Amino acid sequence: MAGNWKMNKTKQEADSFFQGLAEFLQDKNLTCQLLISPAFPYLYSMKSFLGNQVLVSAQNIAAEKEGAFTGEVSGSMLASIGVDASLVGHSERREYYGEKNDILNKKINSCLDSNLMPVYCVGETLEERRKEQHFAVVKSQLKEALLGISKADMAKIVIAYEPVWAIGTGEVATPSQAEEMHLFIRNTINELYDASISDNIRILYGGSVKPSNVVELFTQPNVDGGLIGGASLLLDDYISIIEQTEKISNGSL
Ligand code: PGA
Repeated sequence: MAGNWKMNKTKQEADSFFQGLAEFLQDKNLTCQLLISPAFPYLYSMKSFLGNQVLVSAQNIAAEKEGAFTGEVSGSMLASIGVDASLVGHSERREYYGEKNDILNKKINSCLDSNLMPVYCVGETLEERRKEQHFAVVKSQLKEALLGISKADMAKIVIAYEPVWAIGTGEVATPSQAEEMHLFIRNTINELYDASISDNIRILYGGSVKPSNVVELFTQPNVDGGLIGGASLLLDDYISIIEQTEKISNGSL
């Protein structure tokens, strides 16, 4: 269950969230793996509050290894402060910073070279869905950004399906729309790799996930978890999402 904080929270707000989450997690042995992606300045303190209980993730990573790239943060820098993962290709990066599939391929490789888990985001815009291009768009996002990635490396990647029209809009994909696309993604990974990879790859759903729609979304057979924006900023909502997900995993929901 991954939280994407985007460009939100001060250091004090971030630390108080980490502290609260650490208290909630005390003595808990969760089935579900947690990940939070705060802004760069808070990655280090997140590790000090939460240790290995929650994966620490960057929201972005440089495509290059090192050198004259003002403003960029490399995979080895992230790894050297204990970061575990990075989002790659979030739709806001694609839309506002012009990140295309070929750059995202390099960023996925930057993660893998530094032993960071890439959480690779795909998803269509509203216009693409209206024109019924959503499957084609997601397929090329997968094919182009995963070009040349070995089978062994593919097993380390998490995919997040986030329909752009559902991000921050309050408009959530229906459980059947989510399931249909997740199955399509799994089948595409099977075509590009094989069933051992596609059966085991984790495919997260993102886009207006909140406590009230967790059960309908995460009980879909091909939805393995969530990438949560707005609701992951509120400790109570994030905890409620975790608690419900735990119940789904252990069969009591
Ligand atoms: P949202 O964002 O949950 O606020 O819709 C999801 C995301 O952008 O990862």
